[in-house]
Amino acid sequence: MPNAVTIAGTGSYLPEKVMTNDDLSKIVDTNDEWIFSRTGIRERRIAAEGEFTSHLATKAAEKALEQSGIPAEEIDLIIVATITPDTLTPATACYVQENLGASKAVAFDISAACSGFLYAMKIAKRMIETGAFENALIIGAEKLSAFVNWNDRTTCVLFGDGAGAAVLRKSEEGEGHILATDIGTDGRQTHLLNIPGGGSACPTTIENAAEGLAALSMLGKEVFKHAVTRMKNSANEVIARAGLKPEEIALVIPHQANVRIIDAIAARLDVPNDRIFVNLHKYGNTSAAAIAIALDEANRTGKIKPGDKIIMVAFGAGLTWAAAAIEW
Ligand code: UT7
Repeated sequence: MPNAVTIAGTGSYLPEKVMTNDDLSKIVDTNDEWIFSRTGIRERRIAAEGEFTSHLATKAAEKALEQSGIPAEEIDLIIVATITPDTLTPATACYVQENLGASKAVAFDISAACSGFLYAMKIAKRMIETGAFENALIIGAEKLSAFVNWNDRTTCVLFGDGAGAAVLRKSEEGEGHILATDIGTDGRQTHLLNIPGGGSACPTTIENAAEGLAALSMLGKEVFKHAVTRMKNSANEVIARAGLKPEEIALVIPHQANVRIIDAIAARLDVPNDRIFVNLHKYGNTSAAAIAIALDEANRTGKIKPGDKIIMVAFGAGLTWAAAAIEW
């Protein structure tokens, strides 16, 4: 029998600086009314100069470790899900390992955009199930403010910075555990959402530096359509595999990209709005960090209690999607 895997602690960290929709209207031709009505976002957090993705990740991880009661030295695996790494190499997870003093942990990053935290959860779960590792730290962390084009109102209003983390370990008798996970990819849609420059396809050069190619580019309407279908299907997949009925679901934590997408998912899953977790009005879309931050907020504010069945579901560039069903 594979080991059952539980979430022993969660943590999150949001940078101090708040950027409101009104603040953005001084930078690009936009306004609070447009942003809020089209997305549900009121404000987002922006990391300080000198505050990198690894710093956000470390702070979130410290809180998750503290809640789990597992010391950093006993962590075997650190996975950081991010599309905004400190450096292309080494992995952001390596900086985090050093910051935490988690010296025995194997540390690496994964790039699955907004689905990254749930991809990391599936990988870590499998590692613990097989007995390869005992304790894993999974982190979603992003400094998207460093990768948005601040002249493009169609994207810069959507994103924010932040990090969330969870500690996974073998579940003891009577504890909750991860019931089911699902991950998927459609590589035919890479053009819908990407950062075209800064990689080997288009390295940043003196000639192209001013073109802003190392910034997020998105075909929003197309992404929207795929997001609803893929998230609905992925959530239904884990609900079915976990043998749950809609009325048994205490909370759905969807990716925090757009409240209209969230409402569309809620309607299709037949779960009432008061059981859908939303915090994107405060943070915008923090990509891989979004579900991790939301999970920690739900946990620390008592929105989820031991025994509750919760669903997390995400969607992002790739295109990627992922879902998890958990008994808390
Ligand atoms: O996390 C990864 C997944 N990403 C997503 O899930 C994003 C999915 N897509 C979306 O959330 C929505 O498509 C957006 C919020 C990005 C855009 O909403 P929309 O309802 O699809 O608006 P639109 O792109 O069709 O733009 C409508 C109008 C356009 O003007 P015209 O052409 O109708 O004159 C835009 O130029 O709104 C204009 N517009 C803006 N106006 C004021 C676009 N951005 C802004 C802005 N402020 N920031």
